[in-house]
Amino acid sequence: MNIGVIGTGQIGEVIIRKLRGAGYSVKMANSRGPESLKYLAATTGTMPASVEQVVQDVDMLFIVVPQKAIPELPKGLLSKAKRDTIVIDVGNYYPFRDGRIDEIENGLTESVWVERQIGRPVVKVLNTIPSKALMAAGCPAGSRDRVALPISGDNTKAKEIVAQLIDRIGFDSVDAGTIAESWRQQPGSPVYCTNPTKEELQKWLKNVDRSSLVTNREKGTKALFAVEHRDHRTGALIKRADYQTTVNAHRSVHHEIMNSK
Ligand SMILES: NC(=O)c1ccc[n+]([C@@H]2O[C@H](COP(=O)([O-])OP(=O)(O)OC[C@H]3O[C@@H](n4cnc5c(N)ncnc54)[C@H](OP(=O)(O)O)[C@@H]3O)[C@@H](O)[C@H]2O)c1
Repeated sequence: MNIGVIGTGQIGEVIIRKLRGAGYSVKMANSRGPESLKYLAATTGTMPASVEQVVQDVDMLFIVVPQKAIPELPKGLLSKAKRDTIVIDVGNYYPFRDGRIDEIENGLTESVWVERQIGRPVVKVLNTIPSKALMAAGCPAGSRDRVALPISGDNTKAKEIVAQLIDRIGFDSVDAGTIAESWRQQPGSPVYCTNPTKEELQKWLKNVDRSSLVTNREKGTKALFAVEHRDHRTGALIKRADYQTTVNAHRSVHHEIMNSK
Protein backbone atom coordinates (compact mmCIF):
# COMPACT_ATOMS: atom_id res chain seq x y z
CA MET A 1 0.00 0.00 0.00
CA ASN A 2 1.29 3.47 -0.89
CA ILE A 3 0.69 6.13 1.74
CA GLY A 4 0.98 9.92 1.80
CA VAL A 5 1.35 11.99 4.97
CA ILE A 6 0.76 15.76 5.15
CA GLY A 7 2.31 17.09 8.36
CA THR A 8 5.57 15.83 9.84
CA GLY A 9 5.37 17.42 13.30
CA GLN A 10 5.05 15.65 16.64
CA ILE A 11 2.46 13.06 15.67
CA GLY A 12 3.09 13.10 11.91
CA GLU A 13 6.70 12.02 12.36
CA VAL A 14 5.67 9.18 14.67
CA ILE A 15 2.99 8.03 12.21
CA ILE A 16 5.64 7.98 9.49
CA ARG A 17 8.04 5.97 11.67
CA LYS A 18 5.31 3.47 12.59
CA LEU A 19 4.18 3.07 8.97
CA ARG A 20 7.74 2.56 7.76
CA GLY A 21 8.36 0.11 10.62
CA ALA A 22 5.39 -1.92 9.36
CA GLY A 23 6.81 -1.90 5.82
CA TYR A 24 4.51 0.60 4.08
CA SER A 25 5.81 2.79 1.28
CA VAL A 26 5.42 6.40 2.45
CA LYS A 27 5.87 9.89 1.06
CA MET A 28 5.54 13.00 3.18
CA ALA A 29 5.07 16.76 2.99
CA ASN A 30 5.10 19.68 5.38
CA SER A 31 4.65 23.44 5.07
CA ARG A 32 8.35 24.18 4.46
CA GLY A 33 8.91 21.90 1.49
CA PRO A 34 10.90 18.73 0.67
CA GLU A 35 14.31 20.32 1.35
CA SER A 36 13.43 20.58 5.06
CA LEU A 37 12.67 16.84 5.23
CA LYS A 38 16.09 15.47 4.27
CA TYR A 39 16.97 14.14 7.73
CA LEU A 40 13.62 12.43 8.29
CA ALA A 41 13.82 11.00 4.76
CA ALA A 42 17.31 9.62 5.36
CA THR A 43 16.47 8.09 8.75
CA THR A 44 13.13 6.54 7.77
CA GLY A 45 13.36 5.79 4.06
CA THR A 46 10.39 8.08 3.37
CA MET A 47 10.17 10.14 0.19
CA PRO A 48 9.96 13.93 0.70
CA ALA A 49 7.42 15.64 -1.55
CA SER A 50 5.45 18.82 -2.01
CA VAL A 51 1.90 18.94 -0.67
CA GLU A 52 0.62 18.68 -4.26
CA GLN A 53 2.78 15.61 -4.96
CA VAL A 54 2.02 13.81 -1.72
CA VAL A 55 -1.70 13.38 -2.45
CA GLN A 56 -1.10 11.74 -5.82
CA ASP A 57 -1.18 7.98 -6.47
CA VAL A 58 -1.60 6.99 -2.84
CA ASP A 59 -4.03 4.46 -1.40
CA MET A 60 -4.22 6.27 1.92
CA LEU A 61 -3.53 9.89 2.84
CA PHE A 62 -2.99 11.01 6.44
CA ILE A 63 -3.74 14.67 7.15
CA VAL A 64 -1.77 15.52 10.28
CA VAL A 65 -1.77 19.30 10.52
CA PRO A 66 -3.30 21.56 13.20
CA GLN A 67 -6.99 22.32 12.52
CA LYS A 68 -6.21 25.96 11.70
CA ALA A 69 -3.95 24.80 8.83
CA ILE A 70 -6.69 22.81 7.06
CA PRO A 71 -8.16 25.85 5.24
CA GLU A 72 -4.60 26.87 4.29
CA LEU A 73 -4.07 23.69 2.22
CA PRO A 74 -4.13 24.47 -1.52
CA LYS A 75 -7.68 24.87 -2.88
CA GLY A 76 -8.88 21.74 -4.68
CA LEU A 77 -5.89 19.74 -3.38
CA LEU A 78 -7.84 16.51 -3.01
CA SER A 79 -9.01 16.62 -6.63
CA LYS A 80 -5.44 15.53 -7.44
CA ALA A 81 -5.89 12.35 -5.38
CA LYS A 82 -7.36 9.11 -6.72
CA ARG A 83 -11.12 8.78 -6.20
CA ASP A 84 -10.64 5.81 -3.87
CA THR A 85 -7.78 7.22 -1.77
CA ILE A 86 -8.78 6.81 1.88
CA VAL A 87 -8.30 10.17 3.58
CA ILE A 88 -7.48 10.01 7.29
CA ASP A 89 -8.15 12.92 9.64
CA VAL A 90 -5.82 12.76 12.65
CA GLY A 91 -6.62 16.30 13.82
CA ASN A 92 -8.21 17.83 16.91
CA TYR A 93 -9.63 21.29 17.54
CA TYR A 94 -8.04 23.33 20.32
CA PRO A 95 -9.20 26.96 20.25
CA PHE A 96 -6.13 28.12 22.22
CA ARG A 97 -4.00 26.82 19.34
CA ASP A 98 -6.31 27.00 16.32
CA GLY A 99 -8.23 30.20 17.07
CA ARG A 100 -12.03 30.16 17.19
CA ILE A 101 -13.81 28.15 14.49
CA ASP A 102 -17.45 29.20 14.68
CA GLU A 103 -19.01 26.12 13.05
CA ILE A 104 -17.28 23.81 15.52
CA GLU A 105 -18.07 26.09 18.46
CA ASN A 106 -21.72 25.96 17.31
CA GLY A 107 -21.72 22.16 17.51
CA LEU A 108 -20.44 20.83 14.18
CA THR A 109 -18.46 17.61 14.61
CA GLU A 110 -14.77 18.41 14.03
CA SER A 111 -14.21 15.87 11.25
CA VAL A 112 -17.40 16.94 9.44
CA TRP A 113 -15.88 20.43 9.38
CA VAL A 114 -12.68 18.95 7.93
CA GLU A 115 -14.68 17.09 5.25
CA ARG A 116 -16.39 20.34 4.24
CA GLN A 117 -13.05 22.14 4.03
CA ILE A 118 -11.31 19.54 1.86
CA GLY A 119 -14.36 18.33 -0.09
CA ARG A 120 -13.76 14.63 0.63
CA PRO A 121 -15.06 12.08 3.15
CA VAL A 122 -12.56 11.21 5.89
CA VAL A 123 -11.93 8.39 8.30
CA LYS A 124 -11.03 9.64 11.78
CA VAL A 125 -8.36 7.69 13.63
CA LEU A 126 -5.15 8.21 15.65
CA ASN A 127 -6.42 11.54 16.99
CA THR A 128 -6.88 9.95 20.43
CA ILE A 129 -3.36 8.74 21.09
CA PRO A 130 -0.49 10.96 22.30
CA SER A 131 2.53 10.80 20.00
CA LYS A 132 4.80 9.26 22.63
CA ALA A 133 2.24 6.52 23.32
CA LEU A 134 1.91 5.84 19.60
CA MET A 135 5.69 5.43 19.40
CA ALA A 136 6.03 3.22 22.48
CA ALA A 137 2.80 1.40 23.31
CA GLY A 138 2.25 -0.76 20.22
CA CYS A 139 2.43 -4.54 20.68
CA PRO A 140 1.45 -7.73 18.83
CA ALA A 141 -2.23 -8.74 18.47
CA GLY A 142 -3.46 -10.70 21.47
CA SER A 143 -1.06 -9.00 23.92
CA ARG A 144 -2.52 -8.28 27.35
CA ASP A 145 -3.81 -4.68 27.76
CA ARG A 146 -3.14 -3.81 24.11
CA VAL A 147 -4.22 -0.19 23.52
CA ALA A 148 -7.26 0.26 21.27
CA LEU A 149 -8.13 3.17 18.98
CA PRO A 150 -11.58 4.33 17.79
CA ILE A 151 -12.18 4.54 14.04
CA SER A 152 -15.07 6.65 12.72
CA GLY A 153 -16.27 7.14 9.18
CA ASP A 154 -19.13 6.54 6.77
CA ASN A 155 -17.38 3.96 4.57
CA THR A 156 -17.35 0.56 6.28
CA LYS A 157 -14.88 -0.97 3.80
CA ALA A 158 -12.46 1.94 4.30
CA LYS A 159 -12.72 1.53 8.07
CA GLU A 160 -11.88 -2.19 7.74
CA ILE A 161 -8.76 -1.37 5.70
CA VAL A 162 -7.76 1.23 8.29
CA ALA A 163 -8.35 -1.28 11.11
CA GLN A 164 -5.96 -3.73 9.41
CA LEU A 165 -3.30 -1.02 9.19
CA ILE A 166 -3.82 -0.06 12.85
CA ASP A 167 -3.38 -3.73 13.82
CA ARG A 168 -0.16 -3.90 11.79
CA ILE A 169 1.28 -0.91 13.66
CA GLY A 170 0.49 -2.51 17.02
CA PHE A 171 -2.98 -1.47 18.18
CA ASP A 172 -6.50 -2.84 18.50
CA SER A 173 -9.39 -0.78 17.18
CA VAL A 174 -13.13 -0.37 17.54
CA ASP A 175 -15.61 0.93 14.94
CA ALA A 176 -16.92 4.08 16.64
CA GLY A 177 -19.65 4.84 14.10
CA THR A 178 -20.22 7.44 11.42
CA ILE A 179 -18.23 10.62 10.91
CA ALA A 180 -21.16 12.68 12.27
CA GLU A 181 -20.87 10.61 15.45
CA SER A 182 -17.11 11.00 15.69
CA TRP A 183 -17.53 13.63 18.43
CA ARG A 184 -17.34 10.54 20.67
CA GLN A 185 -13.58 10.48 20.09
CA GLN A 186 -12.94 14.24 20.23
CA PRO A 187 -10.92 15.95 22.99
CA GLY A 188 -12.82 15.81 26.28
CA SER A 189 -14.09 12.28 25.63
CA PRO A 190 -13.11 9.52 28.08
CA VAL A 191 -11.52 7.68 25.12
CA TYR A 192 -9.26 10.65 24.32
CA CYS A 193 -5.60 10.24 25.31
CA THR A 194 -6.51 7.61 27.93
CA ASN A 195 -5.01 4.54 26.20
CA PRO A 196 -8.03 2.26 26.71
CA THR A 197 -8.02 -1.45 26.07
CA LYS A 198 -10.54 -2.70 23.50
CA GLU A 199 -12.99 -3.65 26.24
CA GLU A 200 -12.66 -0.23 27.92
CA LEU A 201 -12.97 1.56 24.60
CA GLN A 202 -16.19 -0.28 23.70
CA LYS A 203 -17.66 0.54 27.12
CA TRP A 204 -16.53 4.16 27.33
CA LEU A 205 -17.63 5.04 23.78
CA LYS A 206 -21.20 4.29 24.88
CA ASN A 207 -20.90 6.71 27.80
CA VAL A 208 -19.60 9.85 26.13
CA ASP A 209 -21.62 12.91 27.16
CA ARG A 210 -21.47 15.36 24.27
CA SER A 211 -22.50 18.31 26.44
CA SER A 212 -19.44 17.79 28.69
CA LEU A 213 -16.81 17.56 25.94
CA VAL A 214 -15.68 21.19 26.03
CA THR A 215 -15.53 21.33 29.84
CA ASN A 216 -13.66 18.03 29.98
CA ARG A 217 -11.30 19.10 27.16
CA GLU A 218 -10.35 22.16 29.23
CA LYS A 219 -9.98 20.04 32.39
CA GLY A 220 -7.79 17.56 30.48
CA THR A 221 -5.59 20.36 29.12
CA LYS A 222 -5.23 21.83 32.61
CA ALA A 223 -4.34 18.44 34.10
CA LEU A 224 -1.80 17.90 31.31
CA PHE A 225 -0.19 21.33 31.69
CA ALA A 226 0.15 20.64 35.43
CA VAL A 227 2.39 17.63 34.77
CA GLU A 228 4.37 19.02 31.82
CA HIS A 229 7.44 21.22 32.22
CA ARG A 230 6.51 24.70 31.02
CA ASP A 231 8.06 28.14 31.32
CA HIS A 232 6.07 29.62 34.22
CA ARG A 233 5.97 33.09 32.59
CA THR A 234 5.22 32.31 28.92
CA GLY A 235 3.66 28.86 29.22
CA ALA A 236 6.04 27.60 26.49
CA LEU A 237 6.64 23.86 26.60
CA ILE A 238 10.12 22.94 27.85
CA LYS A 239 9.78 19.18 28.22
CA ARG A 240 6.83 16.88 27.54
CA ALA A 241 5.66 14.52 30.27
CA ASP A 242 6.27 10.81 29.62
CA TYR A 243 3.31 9.16 27.99
CA GLN A 244 1.99 7.31 31.04
CA THR A 245 1.88 10.62 32.95
CA THR A 246 0.04 12.22 30.00
CA VAL A 247 -2.45 9.35 29.95
CA ASN A 248 -2.95 9.51 33.73
CA ALA A 249 -3.63 13.27 33.53
CA HIS A 250 -6.40 12.67 30.96
CA ARG A 251 -7.75 9.69 32.89
CA SER A 252 -8.03 11.80 36.06
CA VAL A 253 -10.83 13.82 34.42
CA HIS A 254 -13.02 10.76 33.86
CA HIS A 255 -12.58 8.69 37.02
CA GLU A 256 -16.36 8.26 37.50
CA ILE A 257 -16.91 6.60 34.11
CA MET A 258 -13.70 4.63 34.43
CA ASN A 259 -14.56 3.26 37.85
CA SER A 260 -18.20 2.42 37.01
CA LYS A 261 -18.99 -1.28 36.54
N1 LIG B 1 0.96 15.73 19.15
C1 LIG B 1 0.19 14.69 19.47
O1 LIG B 1 0.52 13.89 20.37
C2 LIG B 1 -1.12 14.48 18.73
C3 LIG B 1 -1.79 13.26 18.91
C4 LIG B 1 -2.97 13.03 18.19
C5 LIG B 1 -3.46 13.99 17.33
N2 LIG B 1 -2.80 15.18 17.21
C6 LIG B 1 -3.37 16.20 16.30
O2 LIG B 1 -2.65 16.14 15.08
C7 LIG B 1 -2.53 17.45 14.50
C8 LIG B 1 -1.05 17.77 14.35
O3 LIG B 1 -0.48 17.84 15.65
P1 LIG B 1 1.12 17.93 15.89
O4 LIG B 1 1.26 17.91 17.36
O5 LIG B 1 1.83 16.92 15.08
O6 LIG B 1 1.42 19.40 15.33
P2 LIG B 1 2.83 20.03 15.02
O7 LIG B 1 3.90 19.37 15.79
O8 LIG B 1 2.65 21.50 15.16
O9 LIG B 1 3.08 19.69 13.46
C9 LIG B 1 2.25 20.22 12.48
C10 LIG B 1 2.74 19.79 11.10
O10 LIG B 1 1.82 20.30 10.15
C11 LIG B 1 2.57 20.92 9.10
N3 LIG B 1 1.75 21.97 8.48
C12 LIG B 1 1.19 23.06 9.05
N4 LIG B 1 0.55 23.79 8.13
C13 LIG B 1 0.72 23.16 6.95
C14 LIG B 1 0.32 23.43 5.61
N5 LIG B 1 -0.44 24.50 5.32
N6 LIG B 1 0.70 22.58 4.65
C15 LIG B 1 1.46 21.49 4.94
N7 LIG B 1 1.86 21.17 6.18
C16 LIG B 1 1.50 22.00 7.17
C17 LIG B 1 3.77 21.50 9.80
O11 LIG B 1 4.77 21.79 8.81
P3 LIG B 1 6.24 22.31 9.23
O12 LIG B 1 6.94 21.11 9.82
O13 LIG B 1 6.83 22.75 7.94
O14 LIG B 1 6.02 23.42 10.24
C18 LIG B 1 4.12 20.35 10.74
O15 LIG B 1 4.88 19.38 10.07
C19 LIG B 1 -3.26 18.39 15.47
O16 LIG B 1 -4.58 18.58 15.05
C20 LIG B 1 -3.23 17.63 16.79
O17 LIG B 1 -4.27 18.00 17.68
C21 LIG B 1 -1.63 15.44 17.87
